[in-house]
Amino acid sequence: MTDDNRPSEMSFKTALDILTHFHIVLKLIKVYEANNLGFMERLRDFWAALNEGFKTEDKIQIQLRQDSFFVNKIRLKFNIANYIVYKSVIEEFLARQIGTLTLFPDMTEDELVRFIVFLSRRDLAKGFSFERTDEELHAGSFPDVQLKKLPKEEHIDISEKSAIPIYILGVHHLKDLFESQQKSMNIHLTRRWIQSLINHLMSHEAFLIGLTNIKNFQEYTLNHSVNVCILSLALGRRLGLTRPELIQLGISACLHDVGKFDIPNEILDKPGKLEPEERAVMEKHSHIGAGKLARRKATEEIPDAAVQVAMEHHIKPGMSGYPKYARRKKMSLFSQIVKVIDYYDAITTKRVYRPKTFTPEEALKLMQKNCAEEFEPLLFKAFVQMMGVYPVGTLAAMNSGEVGIVVENNPLAAFAYRPMVKLITDQMGRKIDGPVIDMAEQDPQTKKFKRTIVKALDPEKYNIQVTDYLMATVQ
Ligand SMILES: [Fe+2]
Ligand SMILES: [Fe+2]
Repeated sequence: MTDDNRPSEMSFKTALDILTHFHIVLKLIKVYEANNLGFMERLRDFWAALNEGFKTEDKIQIQLRQDSFFVNKIRLKFNIANYIVYKSVIEEFLARQIGTLTLFPDMTEDELVRFIVFLSRRDLAKGFSFERTDEELHAGSFPDVQLKKLPKEEHIDISEKSAIPIYILGVHHLKDLFESQQKSMNIHLTRRWIQSLINHLMSHEAFLIGLTNIKNFQEYTLNHSVNVCILSLALGRRLGLTRPELIQLGISACLHDVGKFDIPNEILDKPGKLEPEERAVMEKHSHIGAGKLARRKATEEIPDAAVQVAMEHHIKPGMSGYPKYARRKKMSLFSQIVKVIDYYDAITTKRVYRPKTFTPEEALKLMQKNCAEEFEPLLFKAFVQMMGVYPVGTLAAMNSGEVGIVVENNPLAAFAYRPMVKLITDQMGRKIDGPVIDMAEQDPQTKKFKRTIVKALDPEKYNIQVTDYLMATVQ
């Protein structure tokens, strides 16, 4: 018997090798048959890494715990940079609610191949819950494999830490979804992903809004679609939409720019201004997207709302903008929501063709200026209230000489200028991993505020990755 408290003798490298090769074979099996030479070659790498582990261990245990994998006792933390290395493993574990996978040394190479095939199989009609997976595992005779369910508290955990993989999972899911457009779109998974987002929003809205400061993490449209989805859901929740309505809004927001995949990259990424004929092609993305979704509506459970949002998200309240929409007099509520959010995320993202990238605070000011023409005023007001004067992620200079990043707004309107701020430099400008400060805090003797934000700074000028700091607040 193994003593579970015994420290692992496995090296960090072996643990990393096991997880990396596991990811690679899971990825390859989605594309190749199990007898493909390329797949078999990589499977042997995985097999070799496992055997290296078995030299010191009497079992290999891969465990998912929120922001890390543990291979036996060795922690392999995932973050934006290395997420891709573990992506397939994270996806399989989350999709099947697997918490721990244990492999025993009697396992043969043949059993390992069968197990990889088993794990990657998708039978969406039947669903793939943990119970079903475990039941089928027993029926499929895998004597040297054991699965344990993701503990409930981890599974439904709504801590901030698990928002990070959910964000990244969203980007990758949308990538798969958009790439598979020619065949079929797996809206079932999109729906599940949106449900987790809604759960997270319930108690960690500020953190999720903070994550939308992640820009250009992968292709622009993917990253943008995830941000638009998160912010639309947050606004929809504040407007009192029901859960089923939020799910429809979320799907619609994810798919609003699906038509862009049919627009040539030379036009999408053209530095500088588009020529009139190029602009006309670009503007077709609304029509193309709506048409695409309308054709798939019946077979793939795409809501009517998604077709409308794809069509209407560039139309202004007076029905100007594009496309010209002669028959309707008013856009749908979801289209109006996505319009506000889409505009905000677009102008706060650096793009080759945009002369200026706005900080969150500047973006709100510009939007305020253009509000009458561009947005439905009440919706815009709710958006401003949600984002606060200094939206989460704002880099703020204080009268104390310190610099910090806004991590949460103050819910009291009277204290809108006094959010919670994580200090990142001291008064001398030296970088620090400072505490989170409540800007509403007063000196008990003088009754004066201890600190006040004097201005918002441009993170790019200071070479600061705001999201790195936001994520660090939950380490
Ligand atoms: Fe668009
Ligand atoms: Fe967009």
